[in-house]
Amino acid sequence: MHSKELISHDEYQKSADWLKSQTKHRPQVAIICGSGLGILADALKCQDSFPYADIPGFPQSTVQGHAGRLVFGELKGKTCVCMQGRFHMYEGHSLCKTTFPVRVFKLLGVETLIVTNAAGSLADGLRPGDIMIIKDHVNFPGLVGLNPLNGPNDDKFGPRFPAMSGCYDKGLRALAMEIAKQMGVANLTQEGVYAMVGGPTFESIAEARLLHRLGVDAVGMSTAPEVVIATHCGLRVFGLSLITNKVVKSYEDPESVDHQGVLEVGRQRSHTLQQLVTELVARMEIN
Ligand code: 6GU
Repeated sequence: MHSKELISHDEYQKSADWLKSQTKHRPQVAIICGSGLGILADALKCQDSFPYADIPGFPQSTVQGHAGRLVFGELKGKTCVCMQGRFHMYEGHSLCKTTFPVRVFKLLGVETLIVTNAAGSLADGLRPGDIMIIKDHVNFPGLVGLNPLNGPNDDKFGPRFPAMSGCYDKGLRALAMEIAKQMGVANLTQEGVYAMVGGPTFESIAEARLLHRLGVDAVGMSTAPEVVIATHCGLRVFGLSLITNKVVKSYEDPESVDHQGVLEVGRQRSHTLQQLVTELVARMEIN
């Protein structure tokens, strides 16, 4: 499944050119909506939307809770493009397919990428319904050689050996925290480290304990590849995890995780998240 399938610069360009021919919007900000968080796109005005099936080069999204379309529109005076539904490695997509839209966004002129996801918490202070501003990530698939940048480097996008230190923009993190305070949700909001695992299995108890001891605050099955590709091509990145459940770390704990529960917490807190993201877009500076 994870073949060495390579995507040429031309294919990203074709996809971007097709979108440019279909919409007048020229987005400055791209937002990737995680599981149960698709309503983030509903706030966009003057929408143009495109099912992934219609966009040249786009893979198909197969996960319940992910709509599978790209929505362009205005949000607080800024032009945005939203992915309602993302692509995951566990669906069988190669990592370059998983991250395909991010490079298309770059070619459309996007400068800032906002990523959101649903995640399980390992940190004791993170409860279901809490919002974690991503300070840094552990890209477990990347550490063992599953990196979306594998293969010949496309110098038009970025360097062979890109730095990942500081990839979650400090200024945007501070602004988001300030907004959370003003919204009265500072008690629900904190910074933390997100780890991507391959999925689709949730963690065993031993795996959860391992992640916890390694300093991971929240775990999910996405985001890191998109952030790697975005950072490589010079996009400014901001990330949020909505904590949907606690990861089971104890052999005495009878609870287990299920996808429906993950979607349910997403729906309950999605308006708060929408407000936070909207305000962040409104107040972020754009060059
Ligand atoms: Cl507990 N684990 C992983 N890997 N992803 C999740 C999750 C847990 N909860 C939501 N997404």
